[in-house]
Amino acid sequence: MKILVTGGAGYIASHTNLELLQAGYEVVVADNLSNSSMESIHRVEKLTGKKITFYEADILDKERLSNIFVQEGIHSVIHFAGLKAVGESCAIPLKYFRNNLSGTITLLEVMQEYNVKNLVFSSSATVYGDPEKVPVTEDMPLSATNPYGRTKLMIEEMLRDLYRSDASWNIAILRYFNPIGAHESGEIGEDPNGIPNNLVPYVAKVAIGELEKVNVFGDDYDTPDGTGIRDYIHVVDLARGHIKAIEKLTQNPGLVVYNLGTGVGYSVLDIIHNYEKACNKTIPYAVTPRRPGDIAVSYADATKAYQELGWKAEKGIDKMCEDSFRWQSKYPKGYKN
Ligand code: NAD
Ligand code: UFG
Repeated sequence: MKILVTGGAGYIASHTNLELLQAGYEVVVADNLSNSSMESIHRVEKLTGKKITFYEADILDKERLSNIFVQEGIHSVIHFAGLKAVGESCAIPLKYFRNNLSGTITLLEVMQEYNVKNLVFSSSATVYGDPEKVPVTEDMPLSATNPYGRTKLMIEEMLRDLYRSDASWNIAILRYFNPIGAHESGEIGEDPNGIPNNLVPYVAKVAIGELEKVNVFGDDYDTPDGTGIRDYIHVVDLARGHIKAIEKLTQNPGLVVYNLGTGVGYSVLDIIHNYEKACNKTIPYAVTPRRPGDIAVSYADATKAYQELGWKAEKGIDKMCEDSFRWQSKYPKGYKN
Protein backbone atom coordinates (compact mmCIF):
# COMPACT_ATOMS: atom_id res chain seq x y z
CA MET A 1 0.00 0.00 0.00
CA LYS A 2 1.45 3.38 -1.02
CA ILE A 3 1.38 6.24 1.45
CA LEU A 4 2.08 9.83 0.42
CA VAL A 5 3.86 11.61 3.25
CA THR A 6 3.79 15.41 2.88
CA GLY A 7 6.59 17.13 4.75
CA GLY A 8 8.19 13.69 4.73
CA ALA A 9 11.78 14.86 5.22
CA GLY A 10 10.94 16.52 8.56
CA TYR A 11 11.45 15.43 12.14
CA ILE A 12 8.30 13.47 12.95
CA ALA A 13 7.85 12.29 9.36
CA SER A 14 11.33 10.77 9.11
CA HIS A 15 10.57 8.57 12.14
CA THR A 16 7.17 7.74 10.67
CA ASN A 17 8.69 6.82 7.29
CA LEU A 18 10.94 4.35 9.06
CA GLU A 19 8.00 2.70 10.86
CA LEU A 20 5.94 2.65 7.65
CA LEU A 21 8.72 0.96 5.68
CA GLN A 22 9.32 -1.55 8.46
CA ALA A 23 5.60 -2.34 8.52
CA GLY A 24 5.69 -3.07 4.78
CA TYR A 25 4.17 0.13 3.36
CA GLU A 26 5.60 1.93 0.35
CA VAL A 27 6.51 5.54 1.06
CA VAL A 28 6.28 8.49 -1.33
CA VAL A 29 7.47 11.82 0.06
CA ALA A 30 6.57 15.34 -1.07
CA ASP A 31 8.64 17.99 0.69
CA ASN A 32 9.93 21.41 -0.38
CA LEU A 33 12.87 21.02 2.04
CA SER A 34 12.09 24.45 3.55
CA ASN A 35 12.83 23.09 7.03
CA SER A 36 14.56 19.78 6.39
CA SER A 37 17.24 17.93 4.51
CA MET A 38 17.36 15.05 2.00
CA GLU A 39 19.82 13.45 4.38
CA SER A 40 16.95 12.28 6.63
CA ILE A 41 15.50 10.40 3.66
CA HIS A 42 18.85 8.75 2.89
CA ARG A 43 19.34 7.77 6.54
CA VAL A 44 15.91 6.13 6.74
CA GLU A 45 16.65 4.24 3.53
CA LYS A 46 19.91 3.05 5.01
CA LEU A 47 18.36 2.03 8.34
CA THR A 48 15.56 0.05 6.68
CA GLY A 49 17.31 -1.15 3.51
CA LYS A 50 14.26 0.11 1.58
CA LYS A 51 13.68 2.91 -0.93
CA ILE A 52 11.61 6.06 -0.52
CA THR A 53 10.24 7.77 -3.62
CA PHE A 54 11.10 11.44 -3.11
CA TYR A 55 9.56 14.46 -4.84
CA GLU A 56 10.95 17.89 -4.07
CA ALA A 57 7.53 19.50 -4.20
CA ASP A 58 5.69 22.35 -2.56
CA ILE A 59 2.16 21.42 -1.54
CA LEU A 60 1.05 24.82 -2.81
CA ASP A 61 2.00 23.69 -6.33
CA LYS A 62 -1.15 21.98 -7.53
CA GLU A 63 0.25 20.77 -10.82
CA ARG A 64 3.22 19.14 -9.19
CA LEU A 65 1.03 17.49 -6.54
CA SER A 66 -1.41 16.23 -9.19
CA ASN A 67 1.50 14.74 -11.06
CA ILE A 68 2.44 12.70 -7.98
CA PHE A 69 -1.08 11.29 -7.75
CA VAL A 70 -1.04 10.44 -11.48
CA GLN A 71 2.36 8.74 -11.20
CA GLU A 72 2.07 6.89 -7.93
CA GLY A 73 -1.35 5.37 -7.23
CA ILE A 74 -1.54 6.74 -3.69
CA HIS A 75 -3.77 4.93 -1.19
CA SER A 76 -3.58 7.29 1.82
CA VAL A 77 -1.92 10.55 2.76
CA ILE A 78 -0.17 11.51 5.99
CA HIS A 79 -0.07 15.29 6.00
CA PHE A 80 2.84 16.65 8.03
CA ALA A 81 3.86 19.55 5.77
CA GLY A 82 3.57 22.86 7.53
CA LEU A 83 5.40 25.63 9.30
CA LYS A 84 5.45 25.18 13.06
CA ALA A 85 7.30 27.96 14.91
CA VAL A 86 4.88 29.71 17.26
CA GLY A 87 6.95 32.90 17.67
CA GLU A 88 7.58 33.25 13.94
CA SER A 89 3.86 32.77 13.27
CA CYS A 90 3.13 35.84 15.44
CA ALA A 91 5.67 37.89 13.48
CA ILE A 92 4.67 36.75 9.98
CA PRO A 93 1.14 35.32 10.23
CA LEU A 94 0.34 35.62 6.53
CA LYS A 95 3.18 33.28 5.64
CA TYR A 96 1.70 30.74 8.04
CA PHE A 97 -1.80 31.17 6.66
CA ARG A 98 -0.55 30.88 3.07
CA ASN A 99 1.63 27.85 3.69
CA ASN A 100 -0.43 25.84 6.16
CA LEU A 101 -3.96 26.75 5.07
CA SER A 102 -3.55 27.21 1.29
CA GLY A 103 -1.19 24.25 1.21
CA THR A 104 -3.74 22.02 2.91
CA ILE A 105 -6.60 23.23 0.70
CA THR A 106 -4.52 22.48 -2.39
CA LEU A 107 -3.69 19.02 -1.10
CA LEU A 108 -7.34 18.28 -0.29
CA GLU A 109 -8.47 19.46 -3.74
CA VAL A 110 -5.99 17.19 -5.44
CA MET A 111 -6.92 14.25 -3.20
CA GLN A 112 -10.58 14.79 -4.05
CA GLU A 113 -9.81 15.02 -7.75
CA TYR A 114 -7.96 11.70 -7.71
CA ASN A 115 -10.49 10.12 -5.34
CA VAL A 116 -7.92 9.48 -2.60
CA LYS A 117 -9.93 10.16 0.52
CA ASN A 118 -7.86 8.68 3.34
CA LEU A 119 -6.02 11.28 5.37
CA VAL A 120 -4.03 11.43 8.59
CA PHE A 121 -3.52 15.02 9.72
CA SER A 122 -0.83 16.34 12.11
CA SER A 123 -2.71 18.48 14.57
CA SER A 124 -1.47 19.64 17.93
CA ALA A 125 -2.34 19.93 21.60
CA THR A 126 -2.16 23.66 20.92
CA VAL A 127 -5.81 23.46 19.68
CA TYR A 128 -6.89 23.12 23.34
CA GLY A 129 -5.60 26.65 24.03
CA ASP A 130 -5.24 27.01 27.80
CA PRO A 131 -7.18 23.91 28.88
CA GLU A 132 -9.60 24.36 31.77
CA LYS A 133 -8.65 20.96 33.20
CA VAL A 134 -6.08 18.21 32.77
CA PRO A 135 -5.71 15.56 31.55
CA VAL A 136 -7.08 16.90 28.28
CA THR A 137 -9.73 14.82 26.49
CA GLU A 138 -10.60 15.09 22.81
CA ASP A 139 -14.06 16.55 23.50
CA MET A 140 -12.78 19.59 25.38
CA PRO A 141 -13.33 23.10 23.95
CA LEU A 142 -10.92 24.23 21.25
CA SER A 143 -9.25 27.59 20.83
CA ALA A 144 -6.08 29.15 19.49
CA THR A 145 -3.64 31.48 21.18
CA ASN A 146 -1.37 32.26 18.20
CA PRO A 147 -1.45 32.18 14.37
CA TYR A 148 0.27 28.78 14.19
CA GLY A 149 -2.32 27.27 16.51
CA ARG A 150 -5.04 28.99 14.51
CA THR A 151 -3.87 27.22 11.34
CA LYS A 152 -4.22 23.85 13.11
CA LEU A 153 -7.65 24.75 14.43
CA MET A 154 -8.83 26.07 11.05
CA ILE A 155 -7.58 22.98 9.24
CA GLU A 156 -9.41 20.78 11.74
CA GLU A 157 -12.59 22.79 11.06
CA MET A 158 -12.07 22.51 7.30
CA LEU A 159 -11.70 18.75 7.64
CA ARG A 160 -14.92 18.52 9.67
CA ASP A 161 -16.78 20.53 7.01
CA LEU A 162 -15.30 18.44 4.23
CA TYR A 163 -16.37 15.24 5.96
CA ARG A 164 -19.88 16.62 6.54
CA SER A 165 -20.13 17.35 2.82
CA ASP A 166 -18.87 13.92 1.76
CA ALA A 167 -18.90 11.00 4.18
CA SER A 168 -16.75 8.88 1.90
CA TRP A 169 -13.69 10.60 3.38
CA ASN A 170 -11.79 8.85 6.17
CA ILE A 171 -9.84 11.32 8.26
CA ALA A 172 -7.77 10.80 11.39
CA ILE A 173 -6.86 14.00 13.20
CA LEU A 174 -3.93 13.31 15.53
CA ARG A 175 -3.30 15.87 18.25
CA TYR A 176 0.34 15.52 19.25
CA PHE A 177 1.53 16.61 22.65
CA ASN A 178 5.29 17.41 22.90
CA PRO A 179 7.35 15.10 20.68
CA ILE A 180 10.99 14.75 21.71
CA GLY A 181 13.81 12.22 21.41
CA ALA A 182 15.15 10.45 18.38
CA HIS A 183 15.47 7.02 16.81
CA GLU A 184 17.66 4.87 19.04
CA SER A 185 20.24 4.42 16.28
CA GLY A 186 21.07 8.12 16.71
CA GLU A 187 20.97 8.43 12.90
CA ILE A 188 17.80 10.54 12.62
CA GLY A 189 16.46 13.20 14.97
CA GLU A 190 15.29 16.77 15.32
CA ASP A 191 17.46 19.29 13.50
CA PRO A 192 16.18 22.80 14.19
CA ASN A 193 17.60 25.78 12.32
CA GLY A 194 19.57 28.18 14.52
CA ILE A 195 18.89 28.45 18.24
CA PRO A 196 16.12 26.02 19.22
CA ASN A 197 12.79 27.43 20.44
CA ASN A 198 11.66 24.23 22.12
CA LEU A 199 12.89 23.03 25.46
CA VAL A 200 14.50 19.66 24.76
CA PRO A 201 16.45 20.65 21.62
CA TYR A 202 17.73 23.62 23.64
CA VAL A 203 18.74 21.43 26.58
CA ALA A 204 20.50 19.10 24.11
CA LYS A 205 22.63 22.00 22.81
CA VAL A 206 23.57 22.94 26.38
CA ALA A 207 24.48 19.31 27.08
CA ILE A 208 27.00 19.26 24.22
CA GLY A 209 28.38 22.65 25.24
CA GLU A 210 27.09 24.58 22.24
CA LEU A 211 24.88 26.80 24.38
CA GLU A 212 25.80 28.02 27.83
CA LYS A 213 22.67 27.47 29.91
CA VAL A 214 18.98 26.75 29.72
CA ASN A 215 16.62 29.66 30.28
CA VAL A 216 13.74 28.38 32.39
CA PHE A 217 10.76 30.48 31.34
CA GLY A 218 9.17 31.25 34.69
CA ASP A 219 9.12 29.45 38.04
CA ASP A 220 5.97 31.08 39.38
CA TYR A 221 3.34 28.91 37.68
CA ASP A 222 0.80 27.12 39.82
CA THR A 223 2.66 23.79 39.57
CA PRO A 224 4.62 21.82 42.21
CA ASP A 225 8.03 23.33 41.30
CA GLY A 226 6.63 26.48 39.68
CA THR A 227 7.76 25.60 36.14
CA GLY A 228 5.55 24.65 33.17
CA ILE A 229 4.32 21.07 32.81
CA ARG A 230 3.99 19.27 29.46
CA ASP A 231 3.33 15.79 28.14
CA TYR A 232 6.58 14.82 26.40
CA ILE A 233 6.24 11.88 24.04
CA HIS A 234 9.00 9.86 22.38
CA VAL A 235 8.94 10.57 18.64
CA VAL A 236 9.12 6.83 17.86
CA ASP A 237 5.98 6.18 19.92
CA LEU A 238 4.35 9.07 18.09
CA ALA A 239 5.44 7.68 14.72
CA ARG A 240 3.89 4.31 15.60
CA GLY A 241 0.61 6.08 16.32
CA HIS A 242 0.50 6.99 12.62
CA ILE A 243 0.73 3.35 11.59
CA LYS A 244 -2.22 2.59 13.86
CA ALA A 245 -4.12 5.52 12.36
CA ILE A 246 -3.46 4.31 8.80
CA GLU A 247 -4.72 0.85 9.81
CA LYS A 248 -7.80 2.46 11.33
CA LEU A 249 -8.59 4.31 8.09
CA THR A 250 -8.89 1.01 6.24
CA GLN A 251 -11.91 0.24 8.47
CA ASN A 252 -13.82 3.31 7.15
CA PRO A 253 -14.15 5.07 10.49
CA GLY A 254 -15.22 8.46 9.07
CA LEU A 255 -13.64 11.39 10.89
CA VAL A 256 -11.84 10.46 14.10
CA VAL A 257 -9.72 12.50 16.52
CA TYR A 258 -7.06 11.20 18.89
CA ASN A 259 -4.71 12.68 21.44
CA LEU A 260 -1.22 11.22 21.13
CA GLY A 261 0.52 11.75 24.44
CA THR A 262 1.74 9.65 27.35
CA GLY A 263 -0.73 10.95 29.92
CA VAL A 264 2.14 11.99 32.19
CA GLY A 265 3.29 15.56 32.76
CA TYR A 266 6.86 16.65 33.46
CA SER A 267 8.02 20.11 34.54
CA VAL A 268 10.86 22.03 32.94
CA LEU A 269 13.08 21.19 35.93
CA ASP A 270 12.12 17.49 35.68
CA ILE A 271 13.31 17.54 32.08
CA ILE A 272 16.59 19.24 32.96
CA HIS A 273 17.27 16.72 35.76
CA ASN A 274 16.36 13.71 33.62
CA TYR A 275 18.60 15.02 30.86
CA GLU A 276 21.46 15.40 33.35
CA LYS A 277 21.13 11.68 34.11
CA ALA A 278 21.11 10.80 30.42
CA CYS A 279 24.23 12.81 29.57
CA ASN A 280 25.93 12.41 32.93
CA LYS A 281 26.66 16.12 33.18
CA THR A 282 25.27 19.10 35.02
CA ILE A 283 22.98 21.24 32.87
CA PRO A 284 23.32 24.86 33.98
CA TYR A 285 20.11 26.88 33.99
CA ALA A 286 18.74 30.25 35.01
CA VAL A 287 15.17 31.27 35.68
CA THR A 288 13.96 34.06 33.37
CA PRO A 289 10.54 35.71 32.99
CA ARG A 290 7.66 33.69 31.54
CA ARG A 291 7.49 33.35 27.75
CA PRO A 292 4.40 35.24 26.51
CA GLY A 293 1.62 32.89 25.47
CA ASP A 294 2.85 29.88 27.47
CA ILE A 295 0.37 27.96 29.60
CA ALA A 296 1.08 26.35 32.97
CA VAL A 297 0.03 22.75 32.41
CA SER A 298 -0.93 20.49 29.54
CA TYR A 299 -1.01 16.71 29.40
CA ALA A 300 -3.13 14.24 27.54
CA ASP A 301 -5.79 11.75 28.35
CA ALA A 302 -4.76 9.22 25.69
CA THR A 303 -7.37 6.60 26.61
CA LYS A 304 -9.29 7.01 23.36
CA ALA A 305 -6.25 6.19 21.22
CA TYR A 306 -5.67 3.10 23.35
CA GLN A 307 -9.27 1.94 23.12
CA GLU A 308 -9.83 2.65 19.43
CA LEU A 309 -6.35 2.31 17.89
CA GLY A 310 -4.76 -0.11 20.34
CA TRP A 311 -1.94 2.44 20.67
CA LYS A 312 -0.16 3.65 23.73
CA ALA A 313 3.16 5.33 24.34
CA GLU A 314 5.73 2.91 25.68
CA LYS A 315 8.96 4.82 26.09
CA GLY A 316 9.60 6.74 29.29
CA ILE A 317 11.35 10.02 29.96
CA ASP A 318 14.77 8.34 30.53
CA LYS A 319 14.67 6.82 27.07
CA MET A 320 13.50 10.11 25.52
CA CYS A 321 16.45 11.98 27.04
CA GLU A 322 18.99 9.22 26.27
CA ASP A 323 17.94 9.00 22.63
CA SER A 324 17.90 12.78 22.24
CA PHE A 325 21.41 12.98 23.67
CA ARG A 326 22.71 10.13 21.49
CA TRP A 327 21.54 11.88 18.31
CA GLN A 328 22.80 15.28 19.47
CA SER A 329 26.25 14.02 20.45
CA LYS A 330 26.66 11.85 17.36
CA TYR A 331 25.61 14.71 15.05
CA PRO A 332 26.16 18.03 16.88
CA LYS A 333 25.37 19.93 13.68
CA GLY A 334 22.42 17.70 12.82
CA TYR A 335 22.18 16.75 9.15
CA LYS A 336 24.70 19.47 8.26
CA ASN A 337 27.60 17.29 9.47
P1 NAD B 1 9.35 19.74 10.54
O1 NAD B 1 9.52 21.18 10.23
O2 NAD B 1 10.55 18.95 10.87
O3 NAD B 1 8.58 19.02 9.33
C1 NAD B 1 7.70 19.70 8.48
C2 NAD B 1 8.13 19.42 7.06
O4 NAD B 1 7.22 20.06 6.15
C3 NAD B 1 9.53 19.96 6.73
O5 NAD B 1 10.29 18.93 6.15
C4 NAD B 1 9.27 21.09 5.73
O6 NAD B 1 10.33 21.22 4.79
C5 NAD B 1 7.97 20.63 5.09
N1 NAD B 1 7.14 21.69 4.51
C6 NAD B 1 6.73 22.85 5.09
N2 NAD B 1 5.96 23.54 4.24
C7 NAD B 1 5.87 22.82 3.08
C8 NAD B 1 5.22 23.00 1.84
N3 NAD B 1 4.51 24.10 1.57
N4 NAD B 1 5.34 22.04 0.90
C9 NAD B 1 6.07 20.92 1.14
N5 NAD B 1 6.72 20.69 2.29
C10 NAD B 1 6.61 21.63 3.26
O7 NAD B 1 8.27 19.64 11.72
P2 NAD B 1 7.79 18.43 12.62
O8 NAD B 1 8.12 18.77 14.03
O9 NAD B 1 8.23 17.16 12.05
O10 NAD B 1 6.21 18.60 12.49
C11 NAD B 1 5.46 17.90 11.52
C12 NAD B 1 4.00 18.32 11.65
O11 NAD B 1 3.55 18.06 12.98
C13 NAD B 1 3.75 19.81 11.41
O12 NAD B 1 2.53 19.95 10.73
C14 NAD B 1 3.65 20.37 12.80
O13 NAD B 1 2.88 21.54 12.85
C15 NAD B 1 2.99 19.23 13.54
N6 NAD B 1 3.25 19.24 14.99
C16 NAD B 1 4.53 19.30 15.45
C17 NAD B 1 4.76 19.36 16.84
C18 NAD B 1 6.16 19.46 17.37
O14 NAD B 1 6.30 19.85 18.53
N7 NAD B 1 7.20 19.10 16.63
C19 NAD B 1 3.69 19.33 17.73
C20 NAD B 1 2.39 19.26 17.23
C21 NAD B 1 2.19 19.22 15.85
N1 UFG C 1 10.71 26.28 28.02
C1 UFG C 1 11.72 26.84 28.79
N2 UFG C 1 12.85 27.23 28.16
C2 UFG C 1 13.05 27.09 26.82
C3 UFG C 1 12.01 26.54 26.03
C4 UFG C 1 10.85 26.15 26.67
O1 UFG C 1 11.57 26.96 30.00
O2 UFG C 1 14.11 27.47 26.30
C5 UFG C 1 9.48 25.79 28.69
C6 UFG C 1 8.19 26.41 28.21
O3 UFG C 1 7.90 27.57 28.94
C7 UFG C 1 7.20 25.27 28.45
C8 UFG C 1 8.03 24.01 28.22
O4 UFG C 1 9.38 24.41 28.38
O5 UFG C 1 6.77 25.27 29.79
C9 UFG C 1 7.86 23.39 26.84
O6 UFG C 1 8.09 24.37 25.85
P1 UFG C 1 8.31 23.98 24.30
O7 UFG C 1 8.62 25.24 23.57
O8 UFG C 1 9.26 22.86 24.18
O9 UFG C 1 6.88 23.39 23.88
P2 UFG C 1 5.43 24.05 23.94
O10 UFG C 1 4.60 23.21 24.87
O11 UFG C 1 5.50 25.48 24.22
O12 UFG C 1 4.92 23.89 22.45
C10 UFG C 1 5.16 22.72 21.67
C11 UFG C 1 5.26 23.14 20.21
C12 UFG C 1 3.94 23.66 19.73
C13 UFG C 1 2.89 22.63 19.97
C14 UFG C 1 2.86 22.22 21.41
C15 UFG C 1 1.87 21.11 21.65
O13 UFG C 1 6.25 24.15 20.05
O14 UFG C 1 4.01 23.92 18.37
O15 UFG C 1 4.14 21.79 21.83
O16 UFG C 1 2.11 20.06 20.77
F1 UFG C 1 1.69 23.13 19.61
